[in-house]
Amino acid sequence: MSQPGIARRGGALSSAMTKTRKKSANRAAGDEAADSPLRTLVELAKAEAECTRCPLYKHATQAVPGEGRTGSRLMVVGEQPGDKEDLAGKPFVGPAGAILDRALIDADIDRKAVFVTNAVKHFKFDERGKRRLHKRPNAYEIERCKWWLDREREIIRPAAIVALGATAARSLFGRSVTISKMRAQQHALADGTLAFVTIHPSYLLRIQDEDDKAREYRQFVADLRQAARWLAQRAA
Ligand code: URA
Repeated sequence: MSQPGIARRGGALSSAMTKTRKKSANRAAGDEAADSPLRTLVELAKAEAECTRCPLYKHATQAVPGEGRTGSRLMVVGEQPGDKEDLAGKPFVGPAGAILDRALIDADIDRKAVFVTNAVKHFKFDERGKRRLHKRPNAYEIERCKWWLDREREIIRPAAIVALGATAARSLFGRSVTISKMRAQQHALADGTLAFVTIHPSYLLRIQDEDDKAREYRQFVADLRQAARWLAQRAA
Protein backbone atom coordinates (compact mmCIF):
# COMPACT_ATOMS: atom_id res chain seq x y z
CA MET A 1 0.00 0.00 0.00
CA SER A 2 2.89 2.41 0.42
CA GLN A 3 3.50 4.48 -2.68
CA PRO A 4 7.10 5.70 -2.34
CA GLY A 5 7.16 7.64 -5.60
CA ILE A 6 4.24 9.84 -4.59
CA ALA A 7 5.21 10.21 -0.94
CA ARG A 8 8.74 11.37 -1.80
CA ARG A 9 7.44 14.36 -3.78
CA GLY A 10 6.16 15.83 -0.46
CA GLY A 11 3.82 18.83 0.05
CA ALA A 12 0.13 19.08 0.89
CA LEU A 13 -1.07 18.31 -2.64
CA SER A 14 0.89 15.09 -3.01
CA SER A 15 -0.10 14.03 0.52
CA ALA A 16 -3.80 14.55 -0.35
CA MET A 17 -3.25 12.61 -3.58
CA THR A 18 -1.65 9.79 -1.61
CA LYS A 19 -4.63 9.60 0.77
CA THR A 20 -7.12 9.60 -2.14
CA ARG A 21 -5.20 6.87 -3.95
CA LYS A 22 -4.90 4.79 -0.79
CA LYS A 23 -8.65 5.06 -0.20
CA SER A 24 -9.52 4.07 -3.74
CA ALA A 25 -7.04 1.19 -3.61
CA ASN A 26 -8.80 -0.03 -0.47
CA ARG A 27 -12.23 0.31 -2.08
CA ALA A 28 -11.01 -1.51 -5.15
CA ALA A 29 -10.03 -4.37 -2.84
CA GLY A 30 -13.65 -4.43 -1.64
CA ASP A 31 -12.63 -3.39 1.83
CA GLU A 32 -15.41 -2.40 4.17
CA ALA A 33 -13.07 -0.56 6.56
CA ALA A 34 -11.56 1.63 3.82
CA ASP A 35 -12.77 4.86 5.33
CA SER A 36 -11.44 4.14 8.80
CA PRO A 37 -8.22 6.03 9.48
CA LEU A 38 -6.55 3.04 11.25
CA ARG A 39 -3.46 5.02 12.06
CA THR A 40 -2.89 3.53 15.50
CA LEU A 41 -2.91 0.05 17.02
CA VAL A 42 -5.90 1.04 19.17
CA GLU A 43 -7.91 2.07 16.08
CA LEU A 44 -6.80 -1.08 14.33
CA ALA A 45 -7.80 -3.36 17.22
CA LYS A 46 -11.26 -1.73 17.32
CA ALA A 47 -11.72 -2.34 13.60
CA GLU A 48 -10.45 -5.93 13.87
CA ALA A 49 -13.00 -6.57 16.62
CA GLU A 50 -15.74 -5.83 14.05
CA CYS A 51 -14.22 -8.00 11.33
CA THR A 52 -16.56 -10.14 9.22
CA ARG A 53 -14.20 -10.54 6.24
CA CYS A 54 -14.42 -14.35 6.50
CA PRO A 55 -16.71 -16.68 8.50
CA LEU A 56 -14.19 -17.38 11.31
CA TYR A 57 -15.52 -14.52 13.45
CA LYS A 58 -18.80 -16.43 13.93
CA HIS A 59 -17.40 -19.02 16.34
CA ALA A 60 -14.34 -17.38 17.87
CA THR A 61 -14.63 -15.48 21.16
CA GLN A 62 -12.91 -12.41 19.75
CA ALA A 63 -10.37 -11.20 17.21
CA VAL A 64 -6.84 -11.32 18.63
CA PRO A 65 -4.83 -8.32 17.45
CA GLY A 66 -1.06 -8.17 17.34
CA GLU A 67 0.77 -6.98 20.44
CA GLY A 68 3.84 -4.84 20.90
CA ARG A 69 5.27 -1.36 20.46
CA THR A 70 4.55 0.76 17.41
CA GLY A 71 8.24 1.28 16.70
CA SER A 72 9.21 -2.40 16.96
CA ARG A 73 11.97 -3.24 14.47
CA LEU A 74 11.12 -6.93 14.53
CA MET A 75 7.71 -8.45 13.83
CA VAL A 76 7.02 -12.13 14.49
CA VAL A 77 4.01 -13.62 12.71
CA GLY A 78 2.33 -16.83 13.85
CA GLU A 79 -0.59 -18.73 12.37
CA GLN A 80 -3.73 -17.92 14.34
CA PRO A 81 -4.76 -17.60 18.00
CA GLY A 82 -5.14 -20.88 19.86
CA ASP A 83 -7.68 -21.74 22.56
CA LYS A 84 -5.90 -19.72 25.27
CA GLU A 85 -5.28 -16.73 23.00
CA ASP A 86 -8.92 -16.72 21.87
CA LEU A 87 -10.04 -16.42 25.49
CA ALA A 88 -7.34 -13.95 26.56
CA GLY A 89 -7.48 -11.75 23.44
CA LYS A 90 -3.67 -11.76 23.30
CA PRO A 91 -1.32 -13.59 20.93
CA PHE A 92 1.00 -16.40 22.03
CA VAL A 93 -0.03 -16.73 25.67
CA GLY A 94 -0.58 -20.52 25.56
CA PRO A 95 1.79 -23.51 25.22
CA ALA A 96 3.24 -22.40 21.86
CA GLY A 97 3.73 -18.94 23.36
CA ALA A 98 5.72 -20.43 26.24
CA ILE A 99 8.12 -22.02 23.74
CA LEU A 100 8.34 -18.80 21.74
CA ASP A 101 9.12 -16.84 24.92
CA ARG A 102 11.91 -19.25 25.87
CA ALA A 103 13.35 -19.26 22.36
CA LEU A 104 13.34 -15.45 22.20
CA ILE A 105 15.24 -15.32 25.50
CA ASP A 106 17.73 -17.93 24.24
CA ALA A 107 18.18 -15.88 21.06
CA ASP A 108 18.81 -12.72 23.17
CA ILE A 109 15.67 -11.05 21.90
CA ASP A 110 13.47 -9.06 24.29
CA ARG A 111 9.84 -10.06 23.60
CA LYS A 112 8.73 -6.59 24.70
CA ALA A 113 10.73 -5.14 21.79
CA VAL A 114 9.01 -7.45 19.29
CA PHE A 115 5.62 -6.98 17.67
CA VAL A 116 3.98 -10.41 17.95
CA THR A 117 1.01 -11.14 15.76
CA ASN A 118 -0.77 -13.77 13.66
CA ALA A 119 -1.61 -14.22 9.99
CA VAL A 120 -5.21 -14.97 10.95
CA LYS A 121 -6.88 -13.04 13.77
CA HIS A 122 -9.69 -15.44 14.76
CA PHE A 123 -9.33 -18.93 16.28
CA LYS A 124 -10.46 -21.72 13.95
CA PHE A 125 -11.34 -24.96 15.67
CA ASP A 126 -13.37 -28.15 15.73
CA GLU A 127 -15.45 -28.83 18.81
CA ARG A 128 -14.89 -32.25 20.43
CA GLY A 129 -17.08 -32.34 23.51
CA LYS A 130 -15.76 -29.59 25.75
CA ARG A 131 -12.47 -29.34 23.85
CA ARG A 132 -11.77 -26.97 20.98
CA LEU A 133 -9.23 -28.51 18.63
CA HIS A 134 -7.09 -26.24 16.48
CA LYS A 135 -7.91 -26.35 12.77
CA ARG A 136 -5.61 -24.89 10.14
CA PRO A 137 -6.91 -21.80 8.35
CA ASN A 138 -7.46 -22.31 4.62
CA ALA A 139 -6.07 -20.22 1.75
CA TYR A 140 -9.21 -18.07 1.55
CA GLU A 141 -9.15 -17.25 5.27
CA ILE A 142 -5.44 -16.43 5.13
CA GLU A 143 -5.96 -14.17 2.13
CA ARG A 144 -8.92 -12.34 3.69
CA CYS A 145 -7.01 -11.77 6.95
CA LYS A 146 -3.89 -10.55 5.17
CA TRP A 147 -5.62 -7.17 4.97
CA TRP A 148 -5.19 -6.83 8.75
CA LEU A 149 -1.61 -8.02 8.73
CA ASP A 150 -0.85 -5.44 6.05
CA ARG A 151 -2.41 -2.68 8.19
CA GLU A 152 -0.28 -3.82 11.15
CA ARG A 153 2.81 -3.70 8.95
CA GLU A 154 1.93 -0.16 7.83
CA ILE A 155 1.62 1.04 11.43
CA ILE A 156 4.62 -0.83 12.86
CA ARG A 157 6.94 -0.57 9.83
CA PRO A 158 9.26 -3.34 11.08
CA ALA A 159 12.72 -3.63 9.56
CA ALA A 160 12.45 -7.43 9.60
CA ILE A 161 9.70 -10.01 9.91
CA VAL A 162 9.97 -13.62 11.06
CA ALA A 163 7.30 -15.98 9.72
CA LEU A 164 6.59 -18.82 12.14
CA GLY A 165 5.40 -21.71 10.00
CA ALA A 166 3.63 -22.24 6.71
CA THR A 167 0.51 -20.14 7.30
CA ALA A 168 2.48 -17.03 8.24
CA ALA A 169 4.84 -17.57 5.29
CA ARG A 170 1.92 -18.03 2.91
CA SER A 171 0.36 -14.78 4.05
CA LEU A 172 3.59 -12.80 3.82
CA PHE A 173 4.84 -14.22 0.50
CA GLY A 174 1.40 -14.59 -1.09
CA ARG A 175 2.04 -18.21 -2.06
CA SER A 176 2.54 -21.53 -0.37
CA VAL A 177 6.18 -22.17 0.59
CA THR A 178 8.22 -25.07 1.96
CA ILE A 179 9.68 -24.08 5.32
CA SER A 180 12.72 -26.37 5.05
CA LYS A 181 13.69 -24.74 1.74
CA MET A 182 13.20 -21.17 2.96
CA ARG A 183 14.69 -21.20 6.46
CA ALA A 184 18.25 -20.08 7.29
CA GLN A 185 18.10 -17.55 4.45
CA GLN A 186 17.11 -13.91 4.09
CA HIS A 187 14.18 -13.06 1.83
CA ALA A 188 12.74 -9.79 0.61
CA LEU A 189 8.98 -9.27 0.71
CA ALA A 190 7.23 -7.40 -2.12
CA ASP A 191 7.79 -4.03 -0.39
CA GLY A 192 11.45 -4.82 0.35
CA THR A 193 10.99 -5.71 4.02
CA LEU A 194 13.46 -8.39 5.05
CA ALA A 195 11.83 -11.69 6.01
CA PHE A 196 13.01 -14.87 7.68
CA VAL A 197 11.11 -18.14 7.74
CA THR A 198 11.21 -20.74 10.48
CA ILE A 199 9.05 -23.44 12.04
CA HIS A 200 5.97 -22.77 14.14
CA PRO A 201 6.74 -23.38 17.84
CA SER A 202 3.73 -25.74 18.15
CA TYR A 203 5.67 -28.14 15.89
CA LEU A 204 8.09 -28.61 18.80
CA LEU A 205 5.18 -29.56 21.07
CA ARG A 206 4.34 -32.46 18.77
CA ILE A 207 7.85 -34.00 18.61
CA GLN A 208 7.99 -37.06 20.90
CA ASP A 209 11.69 -37.94 20.77
CA GLU A 210 13.60 -35.74 23.22
CA ASP A 211 16.79 -35.60 21.13
CA ASP A 212 14.87 -34.61 18.02
CA LYS A 213 12.98 -32.02 20.01
CA ALA A 214 16.18 -30.53 21.43
CA ARG A 215 17.79 -30.39 17.97
CA GLU A 216 14.77 -28.73 16.39
CA TYR A 217 14.57 -26.25 19.27
CA ARG A 218 18.23 -25.27 18.80
CA GLN A 219 17.58 -24.70 15.10
CA PHE A 220 14.53 -22.59 15.92
CA VAL A 221 16.62 -20.42 18.26
CA ALA A 222 19.32 -20.14 15.57
CA ASP A 223 16.70 -18.89 13.08
CA LEU A 224 15.51 -16.22 15.52
CA ARG A 225 19.09 -15.27 16.31
CA GLN A 226 19.80 -14.80 12.60
CA ALA A 227 17.06 -12.16 12.41
CA ALA A 228 18.33 -10.46 15.57
CA ARG A 229 21.89 -10.44 14.23
CA TRP A 230 20.79 -8.84 10.98
CA LEU A 231 18.90 -6.12 12.88
CA ALA A 232 21.89 -5.45 15.13
CA GLN A 233 24.21 -5.13 12.11
CA ARG A 234 21.78 -2.73 10.44
CA ALA A 235 21.55 -0.57 13.56
CA ALA A 236 25.36 -0.42 13.97
N1 URA B 1 -0.22 -20.20 17.73
C1 URA B 1 -0.17 -19.12 16.93
O1 URA B 1 0.16 -19.22 15.75
N2 URA B 1 -0.46 -17.96 17.43
C2 URA B 1 -0.83 -17.78 18.68
O2 URA B 1 -1.11 -16.66 19.05
C3 URA B 1 -0.86 -18.92 19.50
C4 URA B 1 -0.56 -20.12 19.01
